[in-house]
Amino acid sequence: MNFDLTEEQKAVRDAARDFAENVLLPGVIERDENQTFPTEEVKQLGELGFLGMMVDPKYGGGGMDSVSYVLAMEEISKIDASSSVVMSVNNSLVCWGLEKYGTEEQKQKYLTPLAKGEIIGAFCLSEPEAGSDATSQRTTAEDKGDHYLVNGTKNWITNGGTASVYLVIAQTHPEKKHHGINALIIEKDMEGFVVGPKENKLGIRGSDTHSLMFQDVKVPKENRIGEDGFGFSFAMKVLSGGRIGIASQALGIASGAYELALAYSKERKAFGREINKHQAIAFKLADMATEIEAARLLCLKAANDKDEGRNYDVSGAMAKVFASETAMKTTVEAIQVHGGYGFVKEYHVERLMRDAKITQIYEGTSEIQRIVISRGVLNE
Ligand code: CAA
Repeated sequence: MNFDLTEEQKAVRDAARDFAENVLLPGVIERDENQTFPTEEVKQLGELGFLGMMVDPKYGGGGMDSVSYVLAMEEISKIDASSSVVMSVNNSLVCWGLEKYGTEEQKQKYLTPLAKGEIIGAFCLSEPEAGSDATSQRTTAEDKGDHYLVNGTKNWITNGGTASVYLVIAQTHPEKKHHGINALIIEKDMEGFVVGPKENKLGIRGSDTHSLMFQDVKVPKENRIGEDGFGFSFAMKVLSGGRIGIASQALGIASGAYELALAYSKERKAFGREINKHQAIAFKLADMATEIEAARLLCLKAANDKDEGRNYDVSGAMAKVFASETAMKTTVEAIQVHGGYGFVKEYHVERLMRDAKITQIYEGTSEIQRIVISRGVLNE
């Protein structure tokens, strides 16, 4: 078993770290405070190839493996989880879904600018009454011959206001339940498509989360992804890979908080010595380091499963549930190590704690991951 990274993977990791420290860090507190979308930063992420990392170069992507993607996600998320969620949705959900299941025309028209980062995409599954229970889609896509007529509402959509292309899951044949669902590509300027107000969130406040309304939106048939009725299966397959991205985001939030706590513990003195010379702090750091290493190995294992063509539903869910719980625990402990300083914005760890929470919720809550894992281990 070889745990060593290739030179190429190390170069990707180092480039992401460099970008995060030099470009993302300077404005991250203000963007969080003011809920400012990182427009210029995301543009640069695209130019560096971080928005279509795994896409075939013939469609404008970087042709990299999923392990490189995990490494980059960890580095970006250490500094700015609001930027890394844009990266995760664009790479794992939108680009991967289009590359794997789109037609050649859809790849030319949509995937290529998405992979180059010229535009960004959104994935629209959640609804006011269909979050975890994703089969209960109320948004409808009525078959009108040469087009679908889409009506309904989607909630909590990442990149909701800034995306140009939306992959929308909608019900066409209710009598067939989840086998009657379709996935459609909807463009922002299609008539009847309305972007609702931006959500005011606890964490990832720089990211752009909206509800979306569809009122008699005419979507040409050629914008359907896959065969009629493939939409639910499409969503599940896309989310399995998406969970590796969010697991890596959680890993980055945890390791970012740990690195800050470690550095602070070397500077801060109490009772006559550096605080890390006290076991109360040293043991916290030991637990953080151990759990982060375990989370990292789970993320890399899931990515490697994907790269090797093995099933990654269970390994991705394990990575997500463990990394997100590690992120929550580590960020709380990182604040504790900082004492009063950890409670103020300048020290970054309070933001990381707020950002950590969403990793236990989106792309399937921790409870959903346990459903996926338990079904896998019980071989259902
Ligand atoms: N790949 C392919 N097909 C899959 C699948 C997978 N990974 N998982 C399930 N399916 C298929 C099943 O085979 C089944 O098909 P058949 O009936 O043909 O056998 C069908 O989907 C329904 O499966 P279940 O009977 O298992 O459905 P369920 O309702 O009991 O549970 C679930 C499924 C795992 C709970 C699923 O509903 C789920 O994952 N829910 C969470 C949804 C989610 O993650 N939402 C996140 C929103 S997106 C987001 O957050 C993005 C963002 O903005 C950051």
